[in-house]
Amino acid sequence: MEIKISPVNEGEWMESDVSAMGTDDAVRPEIKDALFQIDSLSFWYRESQALHDISMDIPSRQITAYIGPSGCGKSTLLRCFNRLNDLIDEVRIEGDIRFEGASILDPSVEVNSLRKRIGMVFQKSNPFPKSIYENVAYGCRIHGIRRKRDLDEIVERGLRGAALWDEVKDRLDESALGLSGGQQQRLCIARALSVEPDVILLDEPCSALDPVATAKIEELMQELKKRYTLIIVTHNMQQASRVSDFTAFLYHGRLIEYAETKTLFIRPRKKQTEDYITGRFG
Ligand SMILES: Nc1ncnc2c1ncn2[C@@H]1O[C@H](COP(=O)(O)OP(=O)(O)OP(=O)(O)O)[C@@H](O)[C@H]1O
Ligand SMILES: [Mg+2]
Repeated sequence: MEIKISPVNEGEWMESDVSAMGTDDAVRPEIKDALFQIDSLSFWYRESQALHDISMDIPSRQITAYIGPSGCGKSTLLRCFNRLNDLIDEVRIEGDIRFEGASILDPSVEVNSLRKRIGMVFQKSNPFPKSIYENVAYGCRIHGIRRKRDLDEIVERGLRGAALWDEVKDRLDESALGLSGGQQQRLCIARALSVEPDVILLDEPCSALDPVATAKIEELMQELKKRYTLIIVTHNMQQASRVSDFTAFLYHGRLIEYAETKTLFIRPRKKQTEDYITGRFG
């Protein structure tokens, strides 16, 4: 169904147009071997609905990016993948997310194991006020690994995986807080990698970084996708178009368009997507 958009003042659309959209109008690609299948997912903070009937599949070992204006639900959706929203009071979720075919919303799911397999890196890097070594070893320590030799190996593997080893190998016992912003963010990636996850969720991982540090993380993401599935939220459309394989555009908690990144940026099928990526609003 073709949606008629009525631009109001500088390209914003009328709320009625948005809420009248059936979400089944969303354009989606066919994903073979999906790692996640999101099925009619809706989410509420108290009475306020933040996600509306979202259905989409996420491919394995690719980078999928979420874009959309502030408040459209990107972080909320990202937190659904490892049930981080469980930590917020008075939320409600409907629909389902399947990970390797099994529902992650089922009450029987062991949330700590889920979060071990689906790690997260946040916008603001959040190293613990401990040494570089302890930051990376932490996750494995709480999962019961104690032997120094094992931990040494885990720390080195994590730091190498996050392209940080060469910069810090001679100062592993120094405080992580003495690292630069970009290094701290890579340390958080190393910490996520240390427990050998399958998926890494990244919520605006570069928004506090300068262009050089950003380029390093983007380069790292290309390496990481050989072994992990990455799902990234970004405000930066250039970043989405540079790093991701698939991009999903959210607006007011709805999935508007989801496509291979090249297709979405070069030939968007929805007028809303086109308006957003050409900077007409948002
Ligand atoms: N803990 C919360 N309690 C109540 N409402 C929330 C909470 N977190 C988010 N919201 C609301 O849910 C909606 C979606 O927020 P969300 O943080 O997912 O958006 P976003 O797309 O990540 O925005 P931004 O680009 O600014 O980070 C917003 O209206 C927001 O105010
Ligand atoms: Mg956010």
